Amino acid sequence: MSAIQIQGLRPLKGTVGIQGSKNAVLPMMAAALLARGVTVIRHVPEIEDVFSMMGILDSLGCKCSLEKGVLTMDTGAASGHRIPEEYVGKMRSSCLLLGPLLAGRGEAVTYYPGGCVIGKRPIDLHLYALKQLGASFFEAGGMILARVDRFRGARIRFSYPSVGATENAILAAVTAEGETEIENCAREPEITELCRFLAVMGARIRGAGKSRITVEGVKRLYPVEFLLGGDRICAGTYLAAAAMTAGDVTVIGTEPESLREPVFYLRRMGADISIKEREKEIRLKMGGRPGPVSLCTGPYPEFPTDLQSVFLAAASVADGESRITETVFEARFAAAAILRQFGARIHMEGQTAVAAGTYPLKPAVAEAPDLRGGAALVLAGLAADGLSVIGNCRHIRRGYEDLCRDLGSLGAEICWL
Ligand code: UD1
Repeated sequence: MSAIQIQGLRPLKGTVGIQGSKNAVLPMMAAALLARGVTVIRHVPEIEDVFSMMGILDSLGCKCSLEKGVLTMDTGAASGHRIPEEYVGKMRSSCLLLGPLLAGRGEAVTYYPGGCVIGKRPIDLHLYALKQLGASFFEAGGMILARVDRFRGARIRFSYPSVGATENAILAAVTAEGETEIENCAREPEITELCRFLAVMGARIRGAGKSRITVEGVKRLYPVEFLLGGDRICAGTYLAAAAMTAGDVTVIGTEPESLREPVFYLRRMGADISIKEREKEIRLKMGGRPGPVSLCTGPYPEFPTDLQSVFLAAASVADGESRITETVFEARFAAAAILRQFGARIHMEGQTAVAAGTYPLKPAVAEAPDLRGGAALVLAGLAADGLSVIGNCRHIRRGYEDLCRDLGSLGAEICWL
């Protein structure tokens, strides 16, 4: 199952339930290490990144299982402090374990992280936050050795609102001695959800979702049961797919507010969108070809970088010229060049992709360059006049539970090869 075949030009119609959020569950899995006992999270997506994080937790002595969306993590016998190199290379979020490991064991060993190949992706802000709280780091041959006697509350002011560094700072501060103030922190909905999860565990956090978070350290956290919310990037992907195929699609299970910017731009592209907040439903109807769009990615509440390539795929079939500017990751335009194989008329002007728009696209055989770029190519296949094959789909499986199942349920002619 490493390639996806798509017969294009089938309009998407129907309703799809959205998988649990990848970016919310990964820091929660790191947080589980802060309590002794069995933590259970429901509605967890069965994706490669979750399996990798389970692999790391198991290697630290936890017992993890994931069945029918129920993730069980027993930390009772966990005592390790080394994050194995094989997982660090696969998944950048492994560095989220630094805070909890240092908090619990006083030491941690890791390596420089991997994940999607989209720019330099340094971890200096993670290290800065943990240093402010009292940790020291020694680096040798790509290995990072970390130590702390006890985290102590401190003032952390980020030069950029990094999602992962904000999470690491919170994870380290929740059991620190005293109060921590985190300024210019990231405001992504996944951070708010992590704080909700930690609050159930017994943490004292104020200001989640704002750019200043205050954490009052507590002595102990407790294992909990928790229901994970829907993945806004997955929902945004399916809405963009509907917009490209003159579709009529309802996505259920994601907070509509978390998709405010993508919904705003889809409306600008001509989509008729209705929202039921309480039911967590977003319905998108597109009468014909989408109109062009100009947007710029940025930290939340701005437009999410994770939907940039997917919206570029949608812009590729728009009736006019679109401009999509990336400001979060400097090298996140790998999909742009590959979309040209589908006949998309895209050229780069610095950090801006300019798409002239053409419809339909031509079918192509292409390789997924990264997780979201891979999803963008699948969407291009949906709007192509014939049979396309996307290879290297291991990237896509890092974040989408089953793209073929979900798009197939909406009427796409799509299957795993
Ligand atoms: C998280 C998301 C990812 C999303 C990204 C931005 C998870 C598991 N992943 O990634 O899907 O695309 O937020 O919304 O939640 N940076 C530094 N130094 C650091 C850390 C980051 O310079 O120590 C830079 C990065 O290179 C990048 C920018 O800050 O240019 C944003 O990165 P960050 O917000 O940290 O993203 P991640 O947490 O890695």
